[in-house]
Amino acid sequence: MHYFSTLETDAVCRVVFANDQRLRPRTVFANNQTTNDRGPIVEIFLSHAREFWYICAVSNLKVLLTREQIAQRVQELGAEITRDFAGQSVIFVGVLKGAAIFLSDLARQVDLDSTFDFIGVSSYGNRPDPTHELQHGWDSTGEVKLTKDVDQSMEGKNIILVEDILDTGLTLTFLKKFLLAHKPRSFKIAALLDKPSRRKLPIEGDYVGFKIPDEFVVGYGLDYAERYRNLADVCIVPRE
Ligand code: IMP
Ligand code: MG
Repeated sequence: MHYFSTLETDAVCRVVFANDQRLRPRTVFANNQTTNDRGPIVEIFLSHAREFWYICAVSNLKVLLTREQIAQRVQELGAEITRDFAGQSVIFVGVLKGAAIFLSDLARQVDLDSTFDFIGVSSYGNRPDPTHELQHGWDSTGEVKLTKDVDQSMEGKNIILVEDILDTGLTLTFLKKFLLAHKPRSFKIAALLDKPSRRKLPIEGDYVGFKIPDEFVVGYGLDYAERYRNLADVCIVPRE
């Protein structure tokens, strides 16, 4: 996919909705009509609005890590894990939902007996709206709460906790404490991305894909207001 440069997507949709001149050609093209009746024009535009919004929104993004770079690094991490746990079994515990894609790629690069599990967390306190989170990050000092526990026993297992990004460290600090209470044999953290400059609690990943600057990123599992998780590249959402 090709990503272009900047557009304020919601604003663009509003402009296009409001502007007859921009609606009319699409109607003629889509319907082969020359009517000035706005009803069908708006109807046709609405049927394309979601697709149009998506194209505009993706056009804003700047690629930070290509799918090839990610695949190469995930392969290296998988090889490292395979070496470190040679002759043993591991359990990959993915943090929902962002780690789902990383977990599925990483696990396939690990040549060991393994199982999967997933854990869910959310944060107490007032999470800011997505625009605020994009501009300023989220610096809550609040607690993290569990929304989904693991399904299988962790006792005596080699846990590899898989997370999309290590940011302030709140989430992984909470999860590390929670999982260590289950008395695993060993506990390691695999994080695709790491924003060390934002750390509030002293925690580090054992298998880290990329250290990145303080940018808001999406793709490869990471979301902005739940969108863009399915982009194959990791992209920066510009803070305009
Ligand atoms: P932490 O508890 O501050 O380390 O936050 C980790 C969580 O914040 C991740 O699991 C992500 O869901 C989210 N997060 C942090 N930075 C970003 C980002 O740049 N893009 C998308 N989500 C992010
Ligand atoms: Mg998220």
